[in-house]
Amino acid sequence: MKGIILAGGNGTRLQPLTFAGSKQLAPVYDKPMIYYPLSVLMLAGVRDILIITRPTELPLFRALFGDGRRLGLSIEYAAQDEPRGIADAFRVGEDHIRGEHCALILGDNLFHGANLPSLLRRSALKNSGCVLFGHEVADPRRFGVAEIDRKGRLVSIEEKPRHPRSNLAIPGMYFFDAQVVDITKGLVPSARGELEITDVLRVYLEQGTAELVWLGRGVTWMDTGTHESLLEAGTFVRDMQRRQGTRLGCIEEIAMYMGYIDPDDCHALGAEMGGSPYGQYVMERARAFSTGMPPTALSEEL
Ligand code: DAU
Repeated sequence: MKGIILAGGNGTRLQPLTFAGSKQLAPVYDKPMIYYPLSVLMLAGVRDILIITRPTELPLFRALFGDGRRLGLSIEYAAQDEPRGIADAFRVGEDHIRGEHCALILGDNLFHGANLPSLLRRSALKNSGCVLFGHEVADPRRFGVAEIDRKGRLVSIEEKPRHPRSNLAIPGMYFFDAQVVDITKGLVPSARGELEITDVLRVYLEQGTAELVWLGRGVTWMDTGTHESLLEAGTFVRDMQRRQGTRLGCIEEIAMYMGYIDPDDCHALGAEMGGSPYGQYVMERARAFSTGMPPTALSEEL
């Protein structure tokens, strides 16, 4: 399975922060925002990843992750010259996907929860169709919204409806089979001029192959696209880390836990940042892992 992180867009709602920088590189407490969606793909078992950004920001992301090998990943980059919509990711990323299944995650979405890793791995194993997620929110009008019937079956999908039929928002994380590229080719831009991801999902819904997976109360989902939500996400990460003594979205630790790199490699990555509490944490986790920390404890925390 291939993975795409969509990390472009103009970040209009975060201006002036985004005039001379990428939203997805903005700090969410102790690490760049993109660490969080990257960690989600890694936990899903996705190692072959394309990062799509604005052309001017490609060098920044490349400087951050290189070819991904240090994390046991393959990371490629592609530019989206205009924000033509989320589904445009499959046009820009067509060569990367090369007929395989594909996970897409938005570069400003943060997920955290005990059962998330197993949920992700199960979703990545689906043979055909697509998997989308549902999360109850107070104001669904800001999101894609899923409607379900009394039997819990998915019956409709709408993008930012004025009168939502449910409070089940669709977070920015999706798993698709190889059809997604052709489906996207058949899309036309919406009234707001974008290729909408909800239009892609609706094609799968009409085929009867769209599976909705509920993210229960145990999972936290945040979209960090506004000043308020960015601050809220940073505070959430700080509070969780302080309380648990473990870090969220720590890609070096996840790479080690998933077996993408060994504890020595992980320790070396931590040592490079040894002057920061983050680097020291990475080294500590590498040491603990070598001395037999049970993987179940880790999986609950990640
Ligand atoms: O966060 C979940 C929501 O994301 C979903 O519920 C909606 O169905 C989906 O349309 C999307 O809505 P947003 O209004 O939040 O999307 P936004 O335009 O903010 O873009 C989300 C991320 O994708 C953001 O980090 C910028 C990036 N992006 C967006 C567009 C439209 C791109 O890289 N290129 C683009 O062309």
